[in-house]
Amino acid sequence: MAEYNFIKACFCQPVDRVPVWLMRQAGRYLPEYRAVRAQGAGTFLDLCKDPQRSAEVSVQPIDILDVDAAIMFSDILTPIEPMGMALDFVPGPVFANPVRTSADVDALVVPENMAEAVPYVPQIIQRLRQQLEGRVPLIGFGGAPFTLACYMVEGKGSKDFAALKRMMYGDPELYRTLMEKVTEMDLRYLNMQIEAGAQTIQIFDTWGGLVSPTDFEKFVLPYTKKLIAGLNRKDIPVIYFVKGSGTMLELVKEAGSDVIGLDWHINLGKARDILGDDVAVQGNLDPSVLYAPQPYIEQEVQRILNENDDRPGFIFNLGHGITPSVDPANAIFMVDAVHRLSKK
Ligand code: CP3
Repeated sequence: MAEYNFIKACFCQPVDRVPVWLMRQAGRYLPEYRAVRAQGAGTFLDLCKDPQRSAEVSVQPIDILDVDAAIMFSDILTPIEPMGMALDFVPGPVFANPVRTSADVDALVVPENMAEAVPYVPQIIQRLRQQLEGRVPLIGFGGAPFTLACYMVEGKGSKDFAALKRMMYGDPELYRTLMEKVTEMDLRYLNMQIEAGAQTIQIFDTWGGLVSPTDFEKFVLPYTKKLIAGLNRKDIPVIYFVKGSGTMLELVKEAGSDVIGLDWHINLGKARDILGDDVAVQGNLDPSVLYAPQPYIEQEVQRILNENDDRPGFIFNLGHGITPSVDPANAIFMVDAVHRLSKK
């Protein structure tokens, strides 16, 4: 496994060019994705549960963009369904019965066997490992406990996740019980992915940056730390991406991942100076730069490479997911620019 540039970069080993992939690289900006999505007229969740079609859309960005890693096509919220919560996407996620009371928390199921609870997840991983034939490593993923709880308590996306905050501050005992259940589910879920063949694990904490550093340490970090410590990592790198965490990187590092994902609100060079050279970083092009003319995209890729200044342990990515209205030609151009400008 160590021969992949991507895996080497995760472990701060030297590479002959900077590896690159894009968060949400399989998605609506690709006409090829929209074509598969339209087959059978099913929903997004139907696509997630169909290993043949979901593997097909996971491979599309490898062929189209020439990225250095594949990520299985799924969603962070699919493993919440077997906890007993009906899930829909419109296209944002909606839970019909959000968790609000201690009876709600008590009713949550932590499935003993996640491979049986979400059988389509190990199936897509096994299928992808075969289809990729060693071309690129396969990233499995899950939501961080805090971000999962944001959706479970709120019931949908939100600017401030007020319902979750009310529980977190108003009934810390209930919050703790909820977080322990979510963390245990997450741990079983991610270890199941490793067993099925995932070669890297990324933990998405999209909303972890909403809180102050003090509250991050109290309410977010302990659960991610426990999750990462419990993974059967073997030689499998773990990436922790906390959106909006540029002002609390020392705390994010304490979670214990091999790689720290960065959004675009901090310059990469500054983040690396703070984090030190014993942890790799991934990021951090502003996704909206993909709306710019190609010379500007190239200039921004060069700027970020300059900020990294040849330090080992760097994976190029966007600072958050690619947006649906980006021209795929600009994503292809960006990936090529990273390879071309970083080649030794
Ligand atoms: O990276 C990839 O290519 C793998 C696929 C992937 C999806 N969601 C597919 C998806 C991954 C890694 C995710 C993670 C995810 N899902 C996160 C963490 C990363 C982030 O973006 O912050 C979060 C917060 C979710 C929850 C979620 N799912 C939201 C908020 C939405 C709606 C967003 C939107 O753009 O409309 C989804 C739906 C979703 N997940 C879509 C895709 C391709 C769009 C649904 C469709 O195709 O109709």
